[in-house]
Amino acid sequence: MKKSIYPYDAWKIRESKFDIETNYRNETIFSLGNGYFGVRGTLEEGYSGPNGTSFNATYINGFYEIYDINYAEGGYGFPSYGEAMVNVADSKIVKLFVDDEPFDLLKGNLIEYERILDMKEGFTERKVVWETEKGKKLEITVKRLISFKRQHLGVIVFRFRPLNFSGKIKLISEVDGNIYYGNETDDMRVGNNMRGKVVNTIDSHIDGYMGWLMQATKRSKLKYICSVNHDVKTDCHYELKNYKSDDKIGFEFSIDAEKDKIFQLDKFVSYYTSRECLEDKLVDSSVHEVISAKSDGVNIIFKEQFDYLKEFWADADVEIDGDISMQQGIRYNEFQLLQSVSKNDIANICAKGLTGEGYEGHYFWDSDVYIMPFFLYTKPDIAKNFVMFRYNLLDAARKRAKELGYKGALYPWRTIDGPECSSYFPAGTAQYHINSDIVLAIKKYVDATLDYEFLYKYGAEIIFETARLWISIGAYIPLKNNKFCLNCVTGPDEYTALVDNNAYTNYMAQMNLEYAYFVAKEMAKKAPEYYDNIKEKIGLTDEELNEWNDAAQNMYLPYSGDFGIIPQDDSFLYKERLNAKDLESEKPLLLHRHYLNIYRYQICKQPDVLLLMYLRRELFSIDEIKRNYDYYEPITTHDSSLSPAIFSILANEIGYYDKAYEYFMMTARMDLDDYNGNVKDGIHTACMAGAWSAIISGFGGMMTYPDGLHFMPNIPKSWKSLSYNIRYKNCKMHVSITQEKASFSLIKGEMLKIHIYDEEITLLKGDKVEKEVKKVDRQKC
Ligand code: BGC
Repeated sequence: MKKSIYPYDAWKIRESKFDIETNYRNETIFSLGNGYFGVRGTLEEGYSGPNGTSFNATYINGFYEIYDINYAEGGYGFPSYGEAMVNVADSKIVKLFVDDEPFDLLKGNLIEYERILDMKEGFTERKVVWETEKGKKLEITVKRLISFKRQHLGVIVFRFRPLNFSGKIKLISEVDGNIYYGNETDDMRVGNNMRGKVVNTIDSHIDGYMGWLMQATKRSKLKYICSVNHDVKTDCHYELKNYKSDDKIGFEFSIDAEKDKIFQLDKFVSYYTSRECLEDKLVDSSVHEVISAKSDGVNIIFKEQFDYLKEFWADADVEIDGDISMQQGIRYNEFQLLQSVSKNDIANICAKGLTGEGYEGHYFWDSDVYIMPFFLYTKPDIAKNFVMFRYNLLDAARKRAKELGYKGALYPWRTIDGPECSSYFPAGTAQYHINSDIVLAIKKYVDATLDYEFLYKYGAEIIFETARLWISIGAYIPLKNNKFCLNCVTGPDEYTALVDNNAYTNYMAQMNLEYAYFVAKEMAKKAPEYYDNIKEKIGLTDEELNEWNDAAQNMYLPYSGDFGIIPQDDSFLYKERLNAKDLESEKPLLLHRHYLNIYRYQICKQPDVLLLMYLRRELFSIDEIKRNYDYYEPITTHDSSLSPAIFSILANEIGYYDKAYEYFMMTARMDLDDYNGNVKDGIHTACMAGAWSAIISGFGGMMTYPDGLHFMPNIPKSWKSLSYNIRYKNCKMHVSITQEKASFSLIKGEMLKIHIYDEEITLLKGDKVEKEVKKVDRQKC
């Protein structure tokens, strides 16, 4: 277990010492956001530490600029441009000066320091006692909140109290849009395509306590506005002066500060963009936001935040009694997921949330396979945005398929607004499995919510168009017994690329094709009007349905009789096998080896066959999972943070309980304890959601089978109990598991059928069913 730098606490993350060493990573850990915009945990007053120990940023989800992708040797169909989420104006700036000496944690004398992130209340708070070089002492507290309820609003409450003097103090509040990109990095996982100034000011305004700055990108032609308003609470005399320059608006408060008297500045900020707001409404909307925030006041806004979170935790909380470090870890993960996920369907959830430049703010399959289930079973309304977001990208996916000479739709491996942004096709476009990952998310969504309207109006079109893609790229190969093969693809494991018949891809494509056939037949019967509309819109024929069915029935599904396992692909077992344990000093391999020196071996970055076994659990027996686990675990480096959660879940299934816990620990505290050493670049949202799945599917024992939810709970020996809620088919169920008993209560909805161990149970409203926890290795239901 890694040593934590934060004391264990069920609801709080606490930094009790300010340290240059940990500053960069704490900026990520203390990030705040609401899914629409997010701010790294950088300091209001600025930071004077060495270069490379801080990165200040504010992001708006889905607000991006376009850049050219320059290839030394290009090729047909290579994307010519990419999109990157950009850093926007810094609105949190509040600088304090005592006799012109700036408040700076690294200067003067820092007597007391504490910062907490409160996950129940939804804000960060810093409490500082600081002394100037000349011996003037102040108590300073800064609270920061990004409102969940008011998606465009953030609040800073900056308060100080002179402890041993009266005198002149200046507070400067600014919005600074002079953002300059200069950082270079060798880590290709960190976005590095933005250079110089990316957003430019097109207009600004300042008057008294209020002002705004409007900026635009050059190529994506997007605009955003940042407005601010201030409220002062004090008995001290002060004067306010405004100033403005090209990219900045400023408010200077000159205060006659008095010993022991509090001065409080409430700063309200709002962001709006032309992506969701008409351009001619930008000023009105954002100004209105900060005016009404000021008139409501900070108490109301903080109370709203608490109420919002109360509701969130009532649905999503996972309670672990007997393991405070895991309790803290899982809550932190859930909180960050909520902070990262878009609450509308024109944006989604970035691999790094809104906390860092890593992966350029792109949306990956992470969303559909790893993250959506967390929201689906806790906050299904949010999950709907995931599937609708994919529908909104369908035209772009159709365009991409056409460009590559295929029928149907090919979703981008990474994107913001639709185009493929991956410049490395072996670990990008070749990951065709993204198509079926999206379809699996839709299938799960429909099964869990019964939202057939979505399926008929939107989902079906995605399912049909992605099915077409498989027919385009696959073929019946004589030397494979005329089975339907998918050649030259890359599966989830990015340390193996461009292979024939990647098992994950083939099985998932089979699901995609089967489901397309099933949905088409069902719609023809149950929703003929919708079906006729789609048929006409996309020119669907009955022959195509038969093609889908034939391909699914005849899909080549790799199996090795010699090893009794599923080979990852046709060539995998013919490669030299490396042992992941021997490669510790080279981790992550992608930063230490040329890809050719990775692809040549049996070495995996993340689960591939094992992920398949989790996602299509109903197809595999415990023995099969065990054999495959034993085969693949020694050759997996877990260089992707998406890896440990799946190992934890399957280790639980096959009775490797210590391993299940070890992997769970890695995934649940990946960012808090910086397991991969790169939390400074942003959180790992897929890993965070994986931690939720590891606890619910692993220890909580909940698996989704085609006939519904199956439970086989079994919590770690050191835990007293685990409880969680699940939303499913318009019902809400509470599950509570101790070492001896598991109880299931239906707290909302009329009736729900579930399976506990092998037994089918019908829960009626208000029912509570209790079962002995079976201390045996799990068996397939
Ligand atoms: C993983 C991918 C993942 C991406 C973004 C990579 O390291 O291999 O599976 O989609 O990170 O999280």
